[in-house]
Amino acid sequence: MQDIIQSLNWRCAVKRFDTNKKISDSDIETIKEILRLTPSAYGVQPWKFLIIKNKELRKKLREVSKSKAQVEESDIFIVFCSLRTLDEKYINKHLFNVSQTREIERATLDPYKEIILQSISSLPPQEYKAWAEKQVYIALGNLLTSLACMKIDACPLEAINKERYDEILWLKEKNLSSSVACAIWYRSKEDTYSLLKKVRFDTEELFEIIN
Ligand SMILES: Cc1cc2nc3c(=O)[nH]c(=O)nc-3n(C[C@H](O)[C@H](O)[C@H](O)COP(=O)(O)O)c2cc1C
Repeated sequence: MQDIIQSLNWRCAVKRFDTNKKISDSDIETIKEILRLTPSAYGVQPWKFLIIKNKELRKKLREVSKSKAQVEESDIFIVFCSLRTLDEKYINKHLFNVSQTREIERATLDPYKEIILQSISSLPPQEYKAWAEKQVYIALGNLLTSLACMKIDACPLEAINKERYDEILWLKEKNLSSSVACAIWYRSKEDTYSLLKKVRFDTEELFEIIN
């Protein structure tokens, strides 16, 4: 139990990376699996995670991001995207996966299709977008905690121009929109931010026990 608290105290939104160290291929596979295993409402996984390796694209994204070094220089740069729309075809794909994985009749899942259609697909666009982005942020939180346990550094990035990201990465055409990004690498010894004390409110302030 102490290990996880130690890891969470160790992690911070690192600003400067050690350019000599690389994330191993097996760690990259673990990162993908961490994201894949993220839970979502109704299990519909309304997301896609873009791992941007292309240097030209990184340069373009840097131009429209506040934290420029993290975008261009990080070993791994992930853009977390949410699905623009969650239509019947997508729900069918999800339920087909459920039926195959759990070896159950597809028809028995029809009631779930109706529930998802009514509660998610029929939301007004702004409400749907907010819902989908909330799901995507669960993936980000899941990744940040997991990386802390792996002693790999990351900096989540919200200060990105999402409209420009969508254009640069052709996301509209893929029924996606960018929600948040994350730069991943190992911290540099010169990262003075990681030497600062962690700032959080006291437990007494954050919790209220209601008996
Ligand atoms: C959703 C989210 C978005 C963030 N966006 C940025 C960002 O765009 N640029 C940046 O330098 N840090 C960003 N941060 C880092 C926060 O400033 C940092 O997590 C916070 O100050 C707490 O510090 P710690 O993570 O070092 O404990 C973001 C953090 C979160 C959780």
